[in-house]
Formats: sequence, C-alpha cells, structure tokens
Amino acid sequence: MACRIVVLISGSGSNLQALIDHLDPAHGQIVLVVSNRADAYGLQRAAKAGIETQVLDHNIYASREAFDQAMMARLDSYSPDLLILAGFMRILTPAFVNHYHGRLLNIHPSLLPKYKGLNTHQRALNAGEAEHGATVHFVTEELDGGPLIVQAPVPIVSGDTSATLAARVQQSEHLLYPQAMNWFASGRLRLIDNRACLDGKPVGPVGTRLENMETDMRGMTDV
Ligand code: GRF
Repeated sequence: MACRIVVLISGSGSNLQALIDHLDPAHGQIVLVVSNRADAYGLQRAAKAGIETQVLDHNIYASREAFDQAMMARLDSYSPDLLILAGFMRILTPAFVNHYHGRLLNIHPSLLPKYKGLNTHQRALNAGEAEHGATVHFVTEELDGGPLIVQAPVPIVSGDTSATLAARVQQSEHLLYPQAMNWFASGRLRLIDNRACLDGKPVGPVGTRLENMETDMRGMTDV
C-alpha cells in the first residue's frame, strides 16, 4: 500500500516542490499539505499539483500545546505514515514529536551536528568553514538533534555570501530530501533503536553515494 505522506510548510515550499516532483508514485502519495501561514506560497504549489491543502493558523490557539494538539487531530484524520517538515517554522512540542516518533523527518541547512538553529549559512562563513551543506534527520525532542539520515556537503567558495551559499545549499536540499522520502516510502528507511537504518542497517559514517547526483552524499550514524 502506498505510503501516505503529509508535508508541513510555512513559506516558499521549494522543498515541497522537489518532493512533489520526485516522489516515486509506486511507493507514496502526498495526501495533504498543511501550512501555519495562509500566505505560504507552497500552498499554491500543492494546489497546482492537485494536492489537498489546509491552513492551521497558530495565532488563534492559546498555547503551543493547544496548536500542536489541534494539528495532531487534523493530521491523524489523514492517517499519515510519514510527516515531512519542509520549512515549517514552528518549534514542536514533545507531545507532537513523540506522537510521530519514527515517522517525522526534517531537513536542516547545515552539516549537523554543526550549526543547529538559525542563520546557519552566515555562521558557517564566519567560522571559516571549507564546507557547509544540508542534513535530513528524524525528529526527536532535541531541536535539530535527532538521528541523522543523510547529508550533502556543499563546498564554500571564495566570495560566497550568506545568500549565494544558501542558494547552493538549497539546490542540494532539493536532491537530498526526495531521496530520503523515497527511501522511507519504499520501506528501506526506518528508525530502529533510535538509529536511522537503511535496508535494516544503521547508516554508516561514510558514503551512501546516490546515483545521478552531482553532490557527494553521506549517510551518517547518529552522534
Ligand atoms: C530550507 O532551507 C530548509 O533547510 C529549512 O527551511 C527552508 C525551507 O525552504 N528547514 P522552502 O520553503 O522549502 O523553500
């Protein structure tokens, strides 16, 4: 049976677009896109692809807990097998994260565990890093701290600004995230004993190298 996927967004949705474009229909279907902002451009992308959309405005809820409870009720009515955070700019409560344990993915614009949180590109530049990148991971209670699935390094080149670097990292995200989604949808990727496992084995410290990708992809163990 196809994996039922729900994608959560807050903004442009360029990652959502990549997920839509590269989802293997033999294994999965995006059944819903949810945004906490009515003006998120990603809602238009979803509608154009014929995917149902819903807006849940966090401002009308009295607390973070109340918002997350409302979201869970809404999401569960779609029986999701996989939830994908794609630029969803809300910190999630432990209740939410634990409810979707093992079926909640996030993409973060850094080579985790480096540069958790915001402004990752500028922080990598300020630190004089030679490379930066993006990481897909399972979500746990620790912000940007869940088991790592796969990451794509992006070299930092002379003259890079936060904007040029962000643009290149986003290009890699658009390759990375669909791959992780398709791994999960086809049953190859699972969270086992709090480690990301591909084909039943914990992802290794080097070289899950994906075909037809310019970027060097690295599967990593949790750290
Ligand atoms: C991405 O850069 C992702 O790393 C971060 O939020 C951004 C979302 O961009 N979590 P978009 O809405 O997918 O264009």
